[in-house]
Amino acid sequence: MSLTHLSISFSSSSSAFLSSNSINSRTLKVAVPAKKNGICKCIATPPAETAAYKTKVSRNANMAKLQAGYLFPEIARRRAAHILKYPDAQVISLGIGDTTEPIPEVITSAMAQRSHSLSTLEGYSGYGAEQGEKKLRAAIASTFYADMGIEESDIFVSDGAKCDISRLQLLFGSNVTMAVQDPSYPAYVDSSVIMGQTGQFQKDIEKYGNIEYMRCSPENGFFPDLSTIQKTDIIFFCSPNNPTGSAATREQLTQLVRFAKENGSIIVYDSAYAMYISDDRPRSIFEIPGAKEVAIETTSFSKYAGFTGVRLGWTVVPKELLFSDGFPVAKDFNRIVCTCFNGASNIAQAGGLACLSPEGLKAMHEVVSFYKDNTKLIVDTFNSLGFKVYGGEHAPYVWVHFPGRSSWDVFAEILEKTHIVTTPGSGFGPGGEGFIRVSAFGHRGNVLEACKRFKLLYK
Ligand SMILES: Cc1ncc(COP(=O)(O)O)c(C=O)c1O
Repeated sequence: MSLTHLSISFSSSSSAFLSSNSINSRTLKVAVPAKKNGICKCIATPPAETAAYKTKVSRNANMAKLQAGYLFPEIARRRAAHILKYPDAQVISLGIGDTTEPIPEVITSAMAQRSHSLSTLEGYSGYGAEQGEKKLRAAIASTFYADMGIEESDIFVSDGAKCDISRLQLLFGSNVTMAVQDPSYPAYVDSSVIMGQTGQFQKDIEKYGNIEYMRCSPENGFFPDLSTIQKTDIIFFCSPNNPTGSAATREQLTQLVRFAKENGSIIVYDSAYAMYISDDRPRSIFEIPGAKEVAIETTSFSKYAGFTGVRLGWTVVPKELLFSDGFPVAKDFNRIVCTCFNGASNIAQAGGLACLSPEGLKAMHEVVSFYKDNTKLIVDTFNSLGFKVYGGEHAPYVWVHFPGRSSWDVFAEILEKTHIVTTPGSGFGPGGEGFIRVSAFGHRGNVLEACKRFKLLYK
């Protein structure tokens, strides 16, 4: 089936709920639960229940520091509540950033073959290498890191970038300081809190103590002013960025590597969206000279091949990267991986290998380009409505500015009035306040319908 012909059919009443008097201007107040100062009181954390019996185990104090639920489950909860309220609504999800298009057959057929061979004596395999299958590691190195000096032995295959972010935090321990882009993918901050690297959440500034938030806004071109950033041990840096959709240039990444080297920091570079880059910006931090001595890169097949459910990613820890006592970081990471992980699924790894065949690479590029076409539709829609729109060019995310408004209020307004799920920018950090992230992961018919509804709401 051609990706470009995928669409969803809507009932003739799919937009009937958008009666003319339910469409409001940008400034109209809507009847949704108000939140003070834009702070969302998430209900994902259930109220304390009156238990008949309690253990004597005290709660991990770091867990208690976390603010309510993780962002995306909270959005899923609000979506579910909305469906309960409007059972007949055609809800469109452009929220959590999950992929929607089928995995190309060249990839699934390799997984099916591997799966079937597990039923044979010759084809059966149990535990594999914790670091991943040699052939896949070699294919990753040659496909994504040719001429960068990254070798098969530097690659650790994983069950996805999110899992590796937590394993990296375990590697660093609780005594490091960290910096993150603000706004950023929530897993960096939340895993840091869980590890005990941070202080308490400071409600007045909506930041955790002991984290350096590197503000990325339209004013600085979504790249932090490094001259104002405190030195930290670890710097999480995501490019192309989720949620802003911006991608750092070669000059900016050169500055970042220099900054890390001057401060003796380690960069954890998340390149989960690198294949969405449209020009010659670096797809890997290792394109920057000297990066192997200061950076780790984590990435994923999730958004290239629709592997969000299959689960496969990888992390590169170059042998040149050393701790202050000269011990190789890769050796410790290997120890963590061997202790906390038993290797990625052999079926998923067969899929990963198929992704990197010439046909697989072509198919992945087609998937990426399908979502990029969706992105353009969304960008054009918000541009035509007079909004300031960012991102979208190098990432499947569109970052729309609603100046002076609370992100959660805009999220609620859009959900209530159009049945479209987006993501409130403030869920990614205080720097996201006043923005909404619209994901381009969706069937073409849904994206077209969503654009129609946005136009009705904000015309
Ligand atoms: C920046 C970023 N990193 C990592 C992930 C997680 O990827 P995976 O599915 O490989 O765990 C996501 C998922 O949305 C992401 O946006």
